[in-house]
Amino acid sequence: MMENPALCMPFGVDIDLIKGAMGDPDRVIVRKASNMIGMYADEAALSRLIEHGDPVHYEVFEKAIPDVEGHLIICISKLYPGKVGEEYYMTKGHYHMVAGTAEIYLGVAGQGFMLMKTSDGKCVAEPIRHGRMVYVPPYWAHRSINTDDVPLVSFCVYPGGAGHNYGDIEKEGFPKRIFNKHGVPVTQ
Ligand code: F6R
Ligand code: ZN
Repeated sequence: MMENPALCMPFGVDIDLIKGAMGDPDRVIVRKASNMIGMYADEAALSRLIEHGDPVHYEVFEKAIPDVEGHLIICISKLYPGKVGEEYYMTKGHYHMVAGTAEIYLGVAGQGFMLMKTSDGKCVAEPIRHGRMVYVPPYWAHRSINTDDVPLVSFCVYPGGAGHNYGDIEKEGFPKRIFNKHGVPVTQ
């Protein structure tokens, strides 16, 4: 008889709310400037960054939870401070592969925005910071943007089986960007 793929043992994990790190992650995804080609408005500024050390833009710490319906996937997203030209560091952004699945982001440290869009053109930039939760409804693509000078750390929870669709966002982009203009975040 086939074993049920949703079965797993209960567990706990330490989360360092100051450093924005998971005590014992099973997987760490690291995205550097060179993984962000095509995402920022100023392509020349991104090329210069890649040539000058290719800094890490963000890390995602995950536990190995079965990626099937019934589970809740958890992760810590740590987005470093920085700018590409005048545009703040951000994540690639994605729809979920199963588009009708939501996600909760709890702001743990730092501050910035969760930029969300639908395929029919709605776009919302919702502030996220320590102590603030952002609800990403089903069908909304989402990208975090760090407007602070410390890491923007979020604790994320989303349904098992949701998956990630990066391809549509690579093609469509987001209708808004957030730039540092004379020291303050400006949405354009
Ligand atoms: C999971 C989720 C977050 C992001 C993370 C990195 O569904 O939304 O854990 O995966 O913030 O962003 P992306 O995946 O857009 O590179
Ligand atoms: Zn997501």
